[in-house]
Amino acid sequence: MSRRKVNVGLMGLGTVGTGVVRIIQGHQEDLIKQTGMEIEIKRILVKDINKQRKITVDPAMVTSDPYEVIRDPEIDVIVEVIGGIETTREYILEALEQGKHVVTANKDLMALHGAEILKKAEEKGCDIFYEASVAGGIPILRALVEGFSSDRITRMMGIVNGTTNYILSKMSEEGASYEEVLKEAQELGYAEADPTADVEGHDAARKMAILSTLGFHVDMNLDDVSCKGISEVTQEDIQLGKKLGYEMKLLGIARRDDDMIEVSVEPTMVHHTHPLASIKGVFNAVYVYGEAVGETMFYGPGAGELPTATAVVSDLVTVVKNMKLGVNGRGIVAPYKEKQLKNDDQIMSKYFMRFIVRDERGVLAKITQILADQDVSLEQVLQQPYNSGKKAEIILVTHEASRKNMDTVVKQFAELDVITEIKSIYRVEGGEKL
Ligand code: NAP
Ligand code: HSE
Repeated sequence: MSRRKVNVGLMGLGTVGTGVVRIIQGHQEDLIKQTGMEIEIKRILVKDINKQRKITVDPAMVTSDPYEVIRDPEIDVIVEVIGGIETTREYILEALEQGKHVVTANKDLMALHGAEILKKAEEKGCDIFYEASVAGGIPILRALVEGFSSDRITRMMGIVNGTTNYILSKMSEEGASYEEVLKEAQELGYAEADPTADVEGHDAARKMAILSTLGFHVDMNLDDVSCKGISEVTQEDIQLGKKLGYEMKLLGIARRDDDMIEVSVEPTMVHHTHPLASIKGVFNAVYVYGEAVGETMFYGPGAGELPTATAVVSDLVTVVKNMKLGVNGRGIVAPYKEKQLKNDDQIMSKYFMRFIVRDERGVLAKITQILADQDVSLEQVLQQPYNSGKKAEIILVTHEASRKNMDTVVKQFAELDVITEIKSIYRVEGGEKL
């Protein structure tokens, strides 16, 4: 290729778009050295062209008409950082139709329409990369696609939402309630005014759908990811978990056993010896276990202007290198394995359970009988007085049990006269040698 310049159409000049401009401008010399090409932003799409910006760009480049960017024949690569799903899907499909390579940071779009977009890119011989969509600045997708390509991944566990990790860390360290910490996080700008997608686990579920598709080579839909958020986690759960050696985390769990797969997002008690237990604040981490490599972990900022933009521009560099070599459209291997999802009797885990009982003779016998009938054995038990001694609080940690049997235990406990309230039940991870 004789041309020395690549033209980029930047869709979005918000947090990430601003970072993309800063990195392309600030690192131009290194980018030229690495790619042999000059990377130039030719057009920028925004919603409001009159808005005050944090950076100065040539006003002639800025437009609010997406098709001036997508259909500009001189533009080689579209960088999509506007967010949104349906309209953005149309823009990206049209950009690919026009033969443009695409880099996006949009996990919502890729989790919902990734298969369609990858197919279109393959048809058109175009690159589509989306490193920034999961865990912001951590190059985890490239690690899965390239770094682990010779291995067989059996487990991925991720703290992939910074907002919820910030809330749970603060609750754990400062003893404040969920509501208090969420309000503070909103005031500091860490949590959105509408925090639903973060606190209910939807954001993490989208990221886990992307991770498991790439890590397990199956077409994992968002509907395949079971999802529970942190809005019902209490201070008592966190402190009692700590007493037994656990940190509460909103964990994305993707596990493969004999080609049977499970993927979930749920508040989880993580044993203090597991590397994920030490991830605090807004940071993200993804733990990957490969049959050959064993344990690995990737840690870093999951969001923010420059960390996220670094991932976006690194994808752009890959596109440009591929253009030079003439190998675009071969970056991401489409899923090639049949998807086989586990049933509830195949999903095995340890559980933490907390409930209130009448403090009288024979209570434990009734409880252990139900557990034994469901093949659930106990690893830890803690009993303490509750409500000035008339009742007792029992905290159990089980050995591995199936989700189906634990559901039956919960149902039978709810019907048992001596149990007055079931406070909580959480999955437990860590504490064992893999
Ligand atoms: P943002 O700050 O809200 O910026 C969005 C930008 O897109 C703004 O410049 C906005 O224009 C423009 N825009 C939005 N809708 C548009 C439309 N329909 N037509 C034209 N322009 C439109 O968002 P962000 O935080 O940069 O996030 C962008 C994407 O990156 C999202 O998919 C997000 O999930 C992903 N991401 C973000 C982070 C992060 O740390 N922020 C981390 C990882 C991934 P105006 O400026 O005129 O309003
Ligand atoms: N809302 C997300 C988080 C931003 O809290 O991690 C990055 O996707």
